[in-house]
Amino acid sequence: MHDSILRLESKTVDVVIKTHPFAEILYWGPHLQYFSPQDVHSLSRPIANGRLDVDSPITLMAELGHGLFGSPGIEGHRQGQDGSPVFKTINVQHQGQAVTVTAEDELAGLRLTSEMTLDQSGVLVVRHGLTNLRALAWQVDRFAVTLPIAERAHEVMAFHGRWIHEFQPHRVKLEHDSFVIENRRGKTSHEHFPALIAGTPAFGEMQGDVWGAHLGWSGNHRLRAEAKTDGRRYLQAEALYLPGEMAIEEGDTLWTPRLYASYSPCGLNGMSQQYHRYLRDNIIRFPENKPRPVHLNTWEGIYFNHDPDYIMRMADEAAALGVERFIIDDGWYKGRSDDCRALGDWYLDEEKYPQGLTPVINHVKSLAMEFGIWVEPEMISPDSDLYRAHPDWVLALPGYKQATGRHQLVLNLNIPQAFDYLVERMSWLLGEHAVDYVKWDMNRELVQPGHNGKAAADAQTRQFYRLLDVLGERFPHIEFESCSSGGGRIDYEVLTRSHRFWASDNNDALERNTIQRGMSYFFPPEVMGAHIGHHKCHATFRQHAIEFRGLTALFGHMGLELDPLTVDADEREGYRRYAALHKQWREVIHHGTQWRVDMPDASTLAQGIVSQDKKQGLYIVSQLAMPDYTLMMPLRMPGLEPGAQYRITLLDHPNIRLTGKGGHTMRKLPEWMETSQTASGEWLMQAGIALPILDPETAILIGVERV
Ligand code: GLA
Repeated sequence: MHDSILRLESKTVDVVIKTHPFAEILYWGPHLQYFSPQDVHSLSRPIANGRLDVDSPITLMAELGHGLFGSPGIEGHRQGQDGSPVFKTINVQHQGQAVTVTAEDELAGLRLTSEMTLDQSGVLVVRHGLTNLRALAWQVDRFAVTLPIAERAHEVMAFHGRWIHEFQPHRVKLEHDSFVIENRRGKTSHEHFPALIAGTPAFGEMQGDVWGAHLGWSGNHRLRAEAKTDGRRYLQAEALYLPGEMAIEEGDTLWTPRLYASYSPCGLNGMSQQYHRYLRDNIIRFPENKPRPVHLNTWEGIYFNHDPDYIMRMADEAAALGVERFIIDDGWYKGRSDDCRALGDWYLDEEKYPQGLTPVINHVKSLAMEFGIWVEPEMISPDSDLYRAHPDWVLALPGYKQATGRHQLVLNLNIPQAFDYLVERMSWLLGEHAVDYVKWDMNRELVQPGHNGKAAADAQTRQFYRLLDVLGERFPHIEFESCSSGGGRIDYEVLTRSHRFWASDNNDALERNTIQRGMSYFFPPEVMGAHIGHHKCHATFRQHAIEFRGLTALFGHMGLELDPLTVDADEREGYRRYAALHKQWREVIHHGTQWRVDMPDASTLAQGIVSQDKKQGLYIVSQLAMPDYTLMMPLRMPGLEPGAQYRITLLDHPNIRLTGKGGHTMRKLPEWMETSQTASGEWLMQAGIALPILDPETAILIGVERV
């Protein structure tokens, strides 16, 4: 048996796999210093009375045929036959951190190829390929990646959400049966972010064992955490297929999306830090190695009212405020006067832009800013020239009335002519104009997605990828942002072909605090679009001071989303100040290690980012609601070098700046705020610093610098 045991190793995490006769993950946990293959005998299970007389492993494919009785990893059939495959290993290729196991079921005529890579970051990446070895298609109902986790994982954290309310975490107990997330919206979705985190009871930011799993897929999906009746547990994730949607023809292979799994014994921060490192090393690729430019996006400033002269004045003001990339949002193309029409007509609106786009672009560039533009290529408005010419290009099932969403329909990218039309139009836009950046939007769900009468959500998702691939190859210098009514299409697969996410259409700083924190579990700050919006938020009508808005936008890829010409000098001064502060710290923010801090008061959110060399750290404390206690608890500052001395600096504190001395909340400030103070990294991490008493909806920014 020993020669069928192999181990994938990283500095923090190990995975031990038994390969024969059936492949099975035996261990996924902390790195083992003294491991030897014979150790695994200790886990050989007893066989309980009242059940099958054989042991039932949770194999890589979690087949029912082993007596699993839980949710299997594969379901399907060949015209009712060959529906309960059991795969036997025929080949194993193990090289360093990667292993490929090939297995077959000769009776069912199926081959399974399982690829597993344990990255240096500690992230385990798994996908399976299923090949049909026979004549007649094998109908796929389900095809999933299954990962066993330790029996001590009794709690699950997942994310719910909706438009303008993305990435809201919630927790459930995992004691019996399953917790399932299903998404049939045809895109990653605001509602069902494709991730699950299981952990030991009450796991937190700094403590507990956690097993995170994210499915890199921008379409329908299903994720499950299951506690079997025997107490074993596993996570499972798959692309969700609509009835009849997926069949594998003879000789063809279907691949699951990749599952990205991150185990950490050090709580959620450890899990996230591994994910962030994985993305930085393997997925995030900017065309040019340069700081992330500060944006101004015109959307909430002017909406559909495009006047080139006015836009150029906005650009002047933007440049004066320190903006580095200017983006014209929706409204530039033919007939797009509101959101009821014109999607698909990707020609310039010559009434709005009689001289073309080029004078505006040249003007933006003359101000030393990059130029970006908004598109939504996957859509078609019923009121558009494109629809009038090709009503049959809609993604739909014939005979049914297709529901509109935001007054629009979806273009069927599986129709070659429709696909080519988009390539041609986008190539005109991006090839004949000096565009540096594209905000790629997708503003509705897929309902009855059909092609040739068959369900086609999966195919549409793949065609979307292909479209981005074609354009990415043609225009390698252009950066793409993935937007979908804000954060409706945020996942690792779309990130392989994009460079930024629009996290939410909600620029309310209070709401942004929880949205951005939720997103930070899986994504580092440099890909998270974070904009300062209007004083009175357009999504919630709440009002916030510039300080709270500015500080909240600081910890992502910063931008402005407003018209700087219509606000007063104080507001503008605020934009300038926070853009400058972001630039001053963005090297740390975009390359450092992020730490979320557990605070005793649930309405206090704290986080920090520490530079890789641990010379600098930036910490923010946001007080979302009225503090629970008279005194706020000290802020512990994780991530520093214990033996080093740090100078603590107050970088921004709106409350006190606005109301003098201690403000209305304090007679006396914490001492470090008044006299310069240093302390050891160890002290700051373990004991921390006293915090001032904050008002609701304010934040404080603290810097530490090694002396
Ligand atoms: C979506 C996006 C917004 C904006 C509008 C334009 O709602 O999320 O940021 O681009 O479309 O129509």
